[in-house]
Formats: sequence, structure tokens, C-alpha cells
Amino acid sequence: MGTNAIPPPGTRRPLSGLRRALIAGALGTLVLGTLAAVTVQGSAGAASAGAAASTLGAAAQQSGRYFGTAINAGKLGDSAYTTIANREFDMVTAENEMKIDATEPNRGQFTFTNADRVYNWAVQNGKRVRGHTLAWHSQQPGWMQSLSGATLRQAMIDHINGVMAHYKGKIYAWDVVNEAFADSGGGRRDSNLQRTGNDWIEVAFRTARAADPAAKLCYNDYNIDNWTWAKTQAVYTMVRDFKQRGVPIDCVGLQAHFNSGSPYNSNFRTTIQSFAALGVDVQITELDIQGASPTTYANVTNDCLAVPRCNGITVWGVRDQDSWRSGDTPLLFDGSTKKPAYTAVLNALNAADPNPNPTPTPTPTPTPTPTPTPTPGPGACSATIATVNSWQGGFQTTVTVRAGGSPVNGWTVRWTWPGGQTISSLWNGQHTVSGSSVTVRNAAYNGSVAAGSSTTFGFTANGTAATPTATCTSP
Ligand code: G3I
Repeated sequence: MGTNAIPPPGTRRPLSGLRRALIAGALGTLVLGTLAAVTVQGSAGAASAGAAASTLGAAAQQSGRYFGTAINAGKLGDSAYTTIANREFDMVTAENEMKIDATEPNRGQFTFTNADRVYNWAVQNGKRVRGHTLAWHSQQPGWMQSLSGATLRQAMIDHINGVMAHYKGKIYAWDVVNEAFADSGGGRRDSNLQRTGNDWIEVAFRTARAADPAAKLCYNDYNIDNWTWAKTQAVYTMVRDFKQRGVPIDCVGLQAHFNSGSPYNSNFRTTIQSFAALGVDVQITELDIQGASPTTYANVTNDCLAVPRCNGITVWGVRDQDSWRSGDTPLLFDGSTKKPAYTAVLNALNAADPNPNPTPTPTPTPTPTPTPTPTPGPGACSATIATVNSWQGGFQTTVTVRAGGSPVNGWTVRWTWPGGQTISSLWNGQHTVSGSSVTVRNAAYNGSVAAGSSTTFGFTANGTAATPTATCTSP
């Protein structure tokens, strides 16, 4: 396993997880030479308590997550392909078959032959399905490419309704809108859909919610992985606006196509954390990494594992030869052989804390302004408030709760806002508000803090960023 499976600083690795990782490392090595013997169906390969899981899906399930792949209907007759896909993954995305050109080749005439091939293969093998994608500037059928204005807007609505009705109640999450932002500059991408009016994205989401209230509704894009990039910030601003105005959105899909022009950056965790803090799930939806560095694959996996609302990872294809950019050898399998990146991901998943209590990574701007850290006495605790991100009219804060010379079993943090700030979303704690006074009690899973150790909670708030002095008490 080597250093590839070591998560970046800040990720908790409990003893049981370490033990699972060690076993997984041994298993991964063993399995390399005995692949044919490991023919497991559906969700087989699941870990028993304390043991390492031997497949990606089973390993992800240990922390309540999924591990998926893109499936191409044209390859479902290839038993080498389906053996790996069925054994390893518990979530499926149709690589092309649910797109607009595939499902509505003529206006008003829906075709689900290939989409259903992928869907049926998935559910018959015990897997869930992500829907991809309903509104996109690309892979539009010719008839849609030639539409504009109100006619195109109505065609988009009709398409969403037609496809979602076919799969009503059957899809875990839909990529409702795909790739609507420009590659640079932080604005919308020009497209026929964009030219129908800036509100086309929210119309798509409202339509989708009404069409299938059971499906999670995602916005999905590439190059929104690096927190400092304008495109990331633009999508973040849109999602924040949607949440504030009640536009239905449940998740953000970070495609995570990493290559030399768009390399992995360690601030990926900040991106995941920041979107999650808006109150949406985050899913890594199309992961592939040029060259498939095991270290980078492990980092991506650990970044997701560090954020409770990052609830799944999908790789964009099974084997290198299946990839849309196979020359980059970006996936986890070379033929039927597990690559080092596979073992790195499996080890990281096996090392995950089943009850995650991550330490959020601070965002790069602005400079955090921590309050002085009081030295707690024995049995007592202290709380330190730091602003980790701010924007016009709002901010994000992390509060560190530290135990003194004795362990703490349950903690309560209190402070008073100086200027009418209001919390919009809080995680890793339970809060109550009385006027300007805020009280935060531990969540069920993070009340126990060892002597000298710390835990954190965080929140987003409306108003001007502030770092009032907080008190911490322990019963
Ligand atoms: O099916 C036709 C075939 O009949 C024809 O002979 C052949 C000739 O080129 O084309 C075939 O269609 C191709 C299709 O994949 C199915 O293989 C298209 O040309 C080709 O453009 C299409 O590429 C897909 C691409 O999306 C289209 O934009 C890739 O497979 C697919 O991996 C890729 O996936 C996208 C996600 O949907 C969104 N995010 C980026 C990601 C990678 O580009």
C-alpha cells in the first residue's frame, strides 16, 4: 500500500480503519495475481465488521457512500467488462444513453432502448443509477440545435418531463443541467439554451422537481474542482443563490476530469466542503486522472471521505480502454488488471471513519481571524471561532472545540452576535438561537473529546463576518 493510501493531514483514521487498510493492501496484492478467482455478484464483497472490503462499492458502503462507474450500453456484451463493472461498482451512470440526442432523437418521440439497457443491467445487478443528463448545450439532436427562444425553452421543459416520467421514482440523482458555465471569466457559457434567458437553469430544476420529487437534482460541471478558479466561484454563487431563493437543488456534481491543463489541487477538499456548507450533497461524478497517479486518486478519495455530504464517487469508465480519452490511461483497470490507483482508492475507502467527524479545510481567502485561544482548566473546554470564507452578505465559519486537561463528554458553545448575523446552515452540531445569542451543542457523534484534543463544527451565516468570543462549557 505504501504512502499512496495516506490521507492528507486533518483526516481522521481510527484504529479500525487502519486495520482495514492494512488488510486491504494485502488483499489488493493477492488479488492482482488471482483475479479470475474473485468473481462476485452484485453487492458481494461487502465487509463484515472490522474486516476490509474487497471491492470499491463495498468499501464505500462502509461509510454510507457509493462508488460508481459510467457504463456504455455497447459494451454490455463484453463479459470481461461486465465482470469488473458488476463486481466493483454499486452506482451506474449511462455514459451517453440518457443524453438528449439518445432519448429524444425526434421532437416529442422518446426512445429509451439503450438507456433502458444500461438501467436494467444496473438494477438487475443491485445497483442504483444516476441520470445523465437532461439539459445540456452538447449532444442535442439536430431538431433541438435549430430551435431558439420560447420554442427551445418549451422543448427543454418537455424533454425533462418526458425523460423523467419514464424513470420516475427509479433514479437516485439526475444531472439536471450540465456544463452551463464558461471555461473562464466566471460567466455563463453561450449556448442556445443560455440565449433563452438567464433563468433557464432554474426553470430546468423547477421542472425536474415537479416531474420526479424522489430524485436528487444535481448541477454537474467540469473544471469546478479548483476552489480558486472563477468557474468554481461562479457555480458556487449560483448554488448559494438557488438555496437562498428556494430553487430546488440537492447536489453538485464535480466531474473531476483531472489532467495537465486542469490538475488536481489540494484545495479540492475546500471546494467540496464549501459546496456542502451551502446545504447540498456533493458527488464526484466523472472522475478520471491523466496517468492515474495512485497518490492523486487517494487524495481525491480522501477529500470526499473528509466531508460527510460528499456521498459518492463515480469514475468515468471501467478500464483504460473504455475511457473517452483512453490515451491518458486515466482509470483504475488496465484490461482486467487492477492498477496501483485501484489499490490506493480501495485502501482509502477501507480506512474511512464510518462516523465521520472531519476537520474542514479552511478556504484560501480571506485570511482567517481567529479569536485568542483561552487555556482551559482540567475538565473544561474552550471554543475558538475563525472565519474561513466570506462574500457579500454572508460568511462561513469554523469553530474549534478543545478539551482541557481532562476528557470532555458533551459540550455547549455560546456566543452573542455583534451585528444581527443569522446562521443559515450549521453542521457537526445542533444550534438554538435566542435574539442575538447562539447556543450550539455537540452532535450525537462528536460530544466526546479526549483531553487536549479538539473537534470542530461549522456554519454559514448571513451578514458581515464576525468572530465574537465564544464560551465553552461541559456538563
Ligand atoms: O454512436 C456514434 C457512432 O454511431 C458513430 O459511428 C461514432 C462516430 O464518431 O460516434 C458515436 O458517438 C460517439 C459517442 O460518444 C458514443 O460513443 C460520439 O461521436 C462521441 O462524441 C461521444 O463522446 C462522448 C462525449 O461525452 C460527448 O460529448 C463520450 O463517449 C462521453 O464519455 C463524454 O462524456 C462527457 C459527459 O457526458 C459530460 N462531461 C464530460 C464527459 C467527457 O467528455
